[in-house]
Amino acid sequence: MAWLTKVDHVTYACARDTIEKWAWFHIEVEGGTLIRRIDDVRPDALDSSMKLWCIDYGDFGVALVEGIDRLKKSQVTQFVERHGDHACQHVAYACRDLEEFRGHLERMGGRCRGETLVRNDGFGTLKQMFAKGYSTGNAGESTFPEYLERPEIPDAEGGRISFSRQAGQGFYDQIAAAVDAVDEQPVFDFAAVPAHWRPPEPRPGHPRSPGREPSPAPGRRRPN
Ligand SMILES: [Fe+2]
Repeated sequence: MAWLTKVDHVTYACARDTIEKWAWFHIEVEGGTLIRRIDDVRPDALDSSMKLWCIDYGDFGVALVEGIDRLKKSQVTQFVERHGDHACQHVAYACRDLEEFRGHLERMGGRCRGETLVRNDGFGTLKQMFAKGYSTGNAGESTFPEYLERPEIPDAEGGRISFSRQAGQGFYDQIAAAVDAVDEQPVFDFAAVPAHWRPPEPRPGHPRSPGREPSPAPGRRRPN
């Protein structure tokens, strides 16, 4: 059974003063809808922050981030310097059961970035888990996976705008802490891959793993 069910959102890192240009592209050319605009996810932080704009396509979303440099260079600025304008910073995958998947990932040797975050992103309760970067090196410059689950449980608190900002702070703070701690580990050490492992035979016409149940109708997803 596949642990992941669908892409929830893709996050692109924009160069300085280009987030509006890229929003135009995603809205006017691709037909997305701007559903959230946060121009500073860490307004009280003296070191750095970022902008976070979210564009919804119905079944998935695009999030745009742009660095705000203050006393320090934003991790988003660093990412763009390394990878270029509008480079994909992370893809967020929806999971059937995030905690079960996290346990599985860790038992396989995978490394998560921090604790699983549980928050209200303004539309509902959301569990998020960020893994360490795909490559070894500066956490702010690495592409990484996000895994999330949007459980159908009542929201305990309201406050759409403030919670939306918190949603953006989540990975920023975890990555900033990793940079400060010089944690340059990748999500997986592929030296641990069993020497006998070989790719399975391709299964044309069987895009889903054996025994996997069809995905439930996707709910309206909201990037963060
Ligand atoms: Fe995300």
